[in-house]
Amino acid sequence: MVTEKLLNELNEQINYEFESAHIYLAMAAYCADQDLEGFANFFIVQAEEERFHAMKLYNFVNEMGGRVVLRALKGPENKFDSILDVFKKALDHEKSVTKRIYNLMDIANGEREHATSSMLRWFIDEQVEEEATMTSIIKKLSRLKDNSHGIFMLDTQLGQRVFTPPTA
Ligand SMILES: [Fe+2]
Ligand SMILES: [Fe+2]
Repeated sequence: MVTEKLLNELNEQINYEFESAHIYLAMAAYCADQDLEGFANFFIVQAEEERFHAMKLYNFVNEMGGRVVLRALKGPENKFDSILDVFKKALDHEKSVTKRIYNLMDIANGEREHATSSMLRWFIDEQVEEEATMTSIIKKLSRLKDNSHGIFMLDTQLGQRVFTPPTA
C-alpha cells in the first residue's frame, strides 16, 4: 500500500494521462479537418499511447492495493492556428507531463516508496522520447514552412505510425 498523499498524486496522474489522450484526439480531429490524414493518424496513435500510460498507472495502483478514482476530464483545446501550432502545443503539454512525473518521483523518493519510484522510472525515460518526438516534428515543420510537397511527404510518413504496446 502506498501512502495516501502518493495515492492521491498517482490518481491525479491517471486522470491527467486520460486527459492527454483527449487533448491528442482533439489535435487529430483538427489535422483530419485540414485533410492531413497522416498527421491525424500520428495523434490518434499518440492518444492510444496516453491511454496506455493511464492504464499502466491504473494497474500499478490496483496492484499496490490502492483505489483508483476517476474524475471528469477537462475539455481539450479544439482551436489551432496551424499544424505547427498543434505540435508546439503538444510539446508544451509533454513538458507539463514531464514536470508532473518528476514531482511524483520526488514525492515517492521522499516517502521512501521504492516500488513507486521503480515504476516511475519507466515514465521518466518515456518522457525523453515524447519530448524528442514533438521537437523533431516542430523542427521539420519550421524548416518546411509552406512547402506543400514537403508537408505532404511528412504527412505520408506520419501516416505509417502504428501503436505497439511497449513490452517492458
Ligand atoms: Fe503520457
Ligand atoms: Fe505523452
